[in-house]
Amino acid sequence: MPIIKLSPLQTRFAACLTASVALLLLYLTLTKPHFAYALELDSWIHSENHNHYIILDDDEGGGIEEEEIILPRAEDGVSALANNSPQNSNIGIGIIQNWMFPKDAITGPHGDAGPGLPSGRSKDSPKKREVHELKDRQSGSTIYITLNTCLQPSSNTTDAIPPQLEMYISTSLANQKPGPGSGTAVSVTGGYASFELDDATSDVYVGIAAPNNTAFSGIWNYEIAASNDGPYHRFLDPEKPNLYFVDSDNHAALLITDNTTQALPNETAYQDWMKLSPPYSVFASNQNQRSILGIRKSFCGLRNNAKLSANIKNVTNQNVATMTNRGLGGKPKEQFYIAGLNSTSKYWGMLVMEGNSTAKGNGVVGGGGTVWAAIDFETKTENNCALMYNLSFCSEVAYAVPTNPDKFSPESGLPELAALYDSNAAKLYQYFNYSLQQIPCNTTSSAQYSLARTCDDCARAYKQWLCAVTIPRCEDFSSSSPFLKPRNLGQKFINGSSVSSDPSFSSGQDQALLNAVASNSSRNPLIDSEVRPGPYKEVLPCEDLCYDLVQSCPASLGFACPLSGKGLEDSYGKRVDAAEGVLSCSYLGAAFYLSGVSTVTPGLSMFGMVFLALLVGFIV
Ligand SMILES: *[C@@H]1O[C@H](CO)[C@@H](O)[C@H](O)[C@H]1NC(C)=O
Ligand SMILES: *[C@@H]1O[C@H](CO)[C@@H](O)[C@H](O)[C@H]1NC(C)=O
Ligand SMILES: *[C@@H]1O[C@H](CO)[C@@H](O)[C@H](O)[C@H]1NC(C)=O
Ligand SMILES: *[C@@H]1O[C@H](CO)[C@@H](O)[C@H](O)[C@H]1NC(C)=O
Ligand SMILES: *[C@@H]1O[C@H](CO)[C@@H](O)[C@H](O)[C@H]1NC(C)=O
Ligand SMILES: *[C@@H]1O[C@H](CO)[C@@H](O)[C@H](O)[C@H]1NC(C)=O
Ligand SMILES: *[C@@H]1O[C@H](CO)[C@@H](O)[C@H](O)[C@H]1NC(C)=O
Ligand SMILES: *[C@@H]1O[C@H](CO)[C@@H](O)[C@H](O)[C@H]1NC(C)=O
Ligand SMILES: *[C@@H]1O[C@H](CO)[C@@H](O)[C@H](O)[C@H]1NC(C)=O
Ligand SMILES: *[C@@H]1O[C@H](CO)[C@@H](O)[C@H](O)[C@H]1NC(C)=O
Ligand SMILES: *[C@@H]1O[C@H](CO)[C@@H](O)[C@H](O)[C@H]1NC(C)=O
Ligand SMILES: *[C@@H]1O[C@H](CO)[C@@H](O)[C@H](O)[C@H]1NC(C)=O
Repeated sequence: MPIIKLSPLQTRFAACLTASVALLLLYLTLTKPHFAYALELDSWIHSENHNHYIILDDDEGGGIEEEEIILPRAEDGVSALANNSPQNSNIGIGIIQNWMFPKDAITGPHGDAGPGLPSGRSKDSPKKREVHELKDRQSGSTIYITLNTCLQPSSNTTDAIPPQLEMYISTSLANQKPGPGSGTAVSVTGGYASFELDDATSDVYVGIAAPNNTAFSGIWNYEIAASNDGPYHRFLDPEKPNLYFVDSDNHAALLITDNTTQALPNETAYQDWMKLSPPYSVFASNQNQRSILGIRKSFCGLRNNAKLSANIKNVTNQNVATMTNRGLGGKPKEQFYIAGLNSTSKYWGMLVMEGNSTAKGNGVVGGGGTVWAAIDFETKTENNCALMYNLSFCSEVAYAVPTNPDKFSPESGLPELAALYDSNAAKLYQYFNYSLQQIPCNTTSSAQYSLARTCDDCARAYKQWLCAVTIPRCEDFSSSSPFLKPRNLGQKFINGSSVSSDPSFSSGQDQALLNAVASNSSRNPLIDSEVRPGPYKEVLPCEDLCYDLVQSCPASLGFACPLSGKGLEDSYGKRVDAAEGVLSCSYLGAAFYLSGVSTVTPGLSMFGMVFLALLVGFIV
C-alpha cells in the first residue's frame, strides 16, 4: 500500500484537522445543542466569552455532564445576559447595542450572596430584607439590570463632561430592540443606571445607546449586568454621609467612614469589625478634573479615571486603609490616609466597596461594586502643618499639627514628630498621675470627693484636655477664618522671611499681635524650641474640654477655666451647629461634618494664655 507522504505543513494541517474533528465530535456527544437558536453562532464558537449563552451544569461528580444552552428567542444582534455575569462592551458615538435577560435566567437559580459584613451596619440590610419579602410574595423574580460606564469620550478642547449613555428597556416580544423612541428610558447619571422590575416572568430587553454628538471624540465602554439576586452594580446616596473628612495638610488627607456598628466593645460584632480586613475603599480626584463627574457613580469608571485610591486591588502605590476605633463613641470605623495630593486643591472623595468586599466580578452577587456619593475635601496651602494620626498615648489625635518640613521630612519624619508631641504629653500626664494618687479616690462614698465623678473620670477628662492643649490643631497662616488664633508670630517663616516683612503686614493690628505672648509664641513652648514651625494658626480646643476637666476632678487639684469675657475666648473655642459644616474648635475625634464647606461663623477676637495657669495649676 502506498504510503501517503505529507509535507511538514500538511502534517500539521492534518493533525489540526483531526483535532478539530475530534473536538467537534466530543462537543456533539457532550451537548445537545439547539441549533435553532438565532444568536451569533459565529461568535459563540470562536470567542471565549461564550459563557453568557450557556449554563454549565456540573453537579454530578464534578465532571461536565451536560451543557444546557439557554434558548434565547432573540433577534440578530441581541446578546443574552446570564445571572450576575457582567458583559463589557465598547460603543461608538451614535451606536445602539442590544441585550436581553432571558426568562430562563430570570427564573433560574439564584446566586449565593454570602454572609455579608458583620452586623451593625444598618444601612444595607433594610433593602435586602425588602427584597426577600418581595420574593416571598410573588411568583416571578425581582430582577435588576445595572449599567456602569467605564470609559467615556473626551473633548480635545475643554475638560467638559461628555453626554451620558442612554438605557432603554422593553418587556415586549414585539420590541426586542428598544432604543431612542422605543421602550422605557431609564435615567443614566454619573455613568450609572439601575432598573428594577418586580415579578418578572418573561424576557427583558435592553438597549444601550451612545448619543450622537460632535463635541466629543472617542468611544464609551460600559459594563452591563443582570441579576435576580440584587443589583450587580450599586450607587448609594444616603441622607447621612458614610465618609467624613477629618483633616489634611498640604499633601495628604485623612478620611473616615461612619461608625460601622453601634455594638459595645465586649460584643462580637464590635470585635469582628476590628478584626476585619478593611472592607471599604476610596477613590479621590482633583476637582479640576471635571470630566470625572460623568462617571462619578460608576465603580469601573472611577477605577479607570480616578488618579488616587486607597485599598483598591492591583493598584500600585496604594494609600493606607485601616480599621480604627478612634473618635466619638469609640466605635469601629475605617480610616483612609490619602497622600500624593497637591496643595491648595479641592478634591472629591468617593467611598466604594470593591465587589462584595471579599470577592468581585463574574458570579458574585453585587460583584460590580458599590459607590457612595462623593464628598468634598481640600488640602492646605502652607507646609508647616502636618497631618498626624496613630499616636500611642494621645491616641485620639488625628489632625494637622505644627511642623517644620526641614526638620521633619513630610515623607519620612512624621513618626519622629508624632513621638515628640506624644512623649511630651505622656510626661505631663505622669505629673498629674502622681497628684491624682494623693486624692482619696477609693474610699467610702461619703469620703469621696464627688458622688457623680470618680478618679477615672478625672483621669479621662485630663488626658483629653491635655492632648488637645499640648498638641494644637494647626491651620494655614494664610487662612482668614475668624475662629483661628495666630500663633508663634515672633518666629521667622520656614523660608526665612518674617511677619513684619510681609506686604500684608499692617503696622497697627499686626504689631500688637507681635507684642503679645499669646500670639508671638505657641501655647506649648516645646513647639517653638524643638519644632520651630514659624507662624501658624490654631483651631482652639473646645471650651467643654475645660469644663469637663473642672467638673470631673477634685477641687483640691486646683483646675479652673477662664471666665467668659475674661480670657475664655482667648484659649477656647465654641462648638457651632454641626449643620454649618465648620469645625470651629478642636476636640479629639473631631471630623468635619462634611464637605469642608468653608462657611464663616462668628468668631472670637482676643488673645490670651490663661491655659498656662491651668497647666501649672495641678503641679502645685
Ligand atoms: C445617530 O444618528 C444616526 C443618523 O441620524 C441615527 O441613525 C442613529 O440612530 C443616531 N443614534 C442615536 C443613539 O440616536
Ligand atoms: C462575596 O461573594 C463570595 C462569592 O459569591 C462569597 O463566597 C463571599 O462570602 C461573599 N463575601 C461576603 C462578605 O459576603
Ligand atoms: C480630536 O483630535 C483628534 C486627533 O487628535 C481628531 O481626530 C478629532 O477629530 C478631534 N475631535 C474634535 C471633536 O475636535
Ligand atoms: C458588655 O458590657 C456592658 C457594660 O459595659 C454590659 O452591660 C453588657 O452586659 C456586656 N455584654 C456582654 C455580652 O458581655
Ligand atoms: C490582580 O492581580 C492578580 C495577581 O497578580 C491577577 O491574578 C488578577 O488578574 C489581577 N486583576 C486585575 C483586575 O487586574
Ligand atoms: C458614632 O457613634 C457615637 C456614639 O455612639 C456618636 O457620638 C457619633 O456621633 C457617631 N459618629 C458618627 C459619624 O455618626
Ligand atoms: C497636581 O497638579 C498637577 C498640575 O496641575 C496635575 O497635573 C496633577 O494631576 C495634580 N495631581 C493631583 C493628585 O491632584
Ligand atoms: C500605628 O502605630 C502602631 C504602633 O503604635 C503601628 O504598629 C502601626 O503600624 C501604625 N499604623 C499605621 C497605619 O501607621
Ligand atoms: C498612673 O499611675 C498608676 C499607679 O502608679 C499606674 O498604674 C498607671 O499606669 C499610671 N498611668 C499612666 C497613664 O501612666
Ligand atoms: C479602687 O479600688 C478598686 C478595688 O477596690 C481597684 O480595682 C481600683 O483599681 C482602684 N482604683 C484606683 C484609682 O486606685
Ligand atoms: C513676645 O511678646 C513678649 C511680650 O511683649 C515679649 O517680651 C517677647 O520678646 C516677644 N517675643 C518675641 C519672640 O517677639
Ligand atoms: C514665606 O512664607 C510665607 C508663608 O508661607 C509667605 O507668606 C511669604 O510670602 C514667603 N516669603 C517669601 C519671600 O517667599
